Amino acid sequence: MEPIVWEWVNFLVRWLHVITAIAWIGSSFYFIHLDLSLRRRDGLPNGVAGEAWQVHGGGFYNMMKYTVAPPELPEKLTWFKWEAYATWLSGFCLLSVLYYHGAALYMIDPAVLDIPWWGAVLLSLGALGLGWHVYDRLCKSPLGKDDVKLAAAGFVFLVLVAWGLSHLFSGRAAMLHVGALIGTMMSANVFRIIIPNQTKAVAAMKAGQVPDPALGKQAKQRSLHNNYLTLPVVFLMISNHYPLAFGTRYSWVIVAVVLVVGAVIRHFFNSRHAGKPAPWWTWAVAAAGVAVIVGLSAAGARTESAAAAPARVEFAQVEEVVLSRCSMCHAAQPVWEGIGVAPRGVTLDSAEAIGRHAPQIRVWAALSDAMPPGNVTGITPEERRLLAAWTDQLPR
Ligand code: HEC
Repeated sequence: MEPIVWEWVNFLVRWLHVITAIAWIGSSFYFIHLDLSLRRRDGLPNGVAGEAWQVHGGGFYNMMKYTVAPPELPEKLTWFKWEAYATWLSGFCLLSVLYYHGAALYMIDPAVLDIPWWGAVLLSLGALGLGWHVYDRLCKSPLGKDDVKLAAAGFVFLVLVAWGLSHLFSGRAAMLHVGALIGTMMSANVFRIIIPNQTKAVAAMKAGQVPDPALGKQAKQRSLHNNYLTLPVVFLMISNHYPLAFGTRYSWVIVAVVLVVGAVIRHFFNSRHAGKPAPWWTWAVAAAGVAVIVGLSAAGARTESAAAAPARVEFAQVEEVVLSRCSMCHAAQPVWEGIGVAPRGVTLDSAEAIGRHAPQIRVWAALSDAMPPGNVTGITPEERRLLAAWTDQLPR
């Protein structure tokens, strides 16, 4: 019964997380577009920096932006913050349900670092807390005065985190945690900087003072970061379904390339929304980046065998490996504790089933080390090599 309950908790929390993230990213894309498309014209009310006309849902909207504040604050003011908070909270729940509860399967890879489950949880919490702290310090340091230098420093920092985590966690948890850290930075930007600064500005206005422009500047810088990090964070969050991304030797380099690819694609849209000439070069950079990622992902599992590939593989050898390393979970009646049904419907408990799943076995266990999770059944590099050679010799 228990695995069934966990399965559903996992599914429902994920459903919530995806919805809140859609709400957050949707409103964020909308406001970035609106902000960039504002135009000045004569005759705008005092304090208005620009206006935009939009048509949607059977009506026309005339949007105006007061950069500092309107002469009088309206009674009802809509704040946009719960999208961000709910995304982080639901994401943290999902991290707990899936990764903390299933640390032995999803976080710990004894070949990387053999730690108890609570050690993995502490490392995860430490990475998120410390990561935010370092990023926040970077922004507030002298580097933070120059957006380009700050972006370069932030990039180096995140790549170091990706590299470091790949020496602590399974490939899957390492990549997901870079995403979780970026998501934490983005939500904390809203929670600790953007909303508090806006609140202070509103309070100052209510007290009849002019709000400190530094507050707005700082908030704008953080929202710029959030904008450029949106596409990479989504890639990293869904990466855990794609073993070639997270479970291969250069996964941490893939993270570095994704940060660039996601940022340049975003830049293309930012420029267009601002009415500037479209920077088509960004697509060339993105395409080159994707080609690099695909190439890197073909480098093989992290634990590579030094032995030469076997020339000819007999099916009996494959069957022996799969039955002894995979079928305790991937069976109609799994015998592994905590696994209630064959994961993702993949059964590997008969010759017929093994043959039918050859392409998946290749991606999940031969070209990457995604399976077995945390290598709990101790598959050897030689056995992966054997699986790879077998799938190679199959007719396509
Ligand atoms: C300890 C239990 C366990 C063992 C042993 C194990 N797996 Fe898995 N497998 C899982 C779980 C759990 C998932 C679901 C992962 C997820 O949630 O993304 C999974 C997912 C998969 C998938 C993904 C299907 C899909 O498309 O999403 C494949 C393929 C797979 N395993 C193959 C293997 C192979 C091949 C082996 C042996 C080399 C193996 N597994 C050993 C637990 C196991």
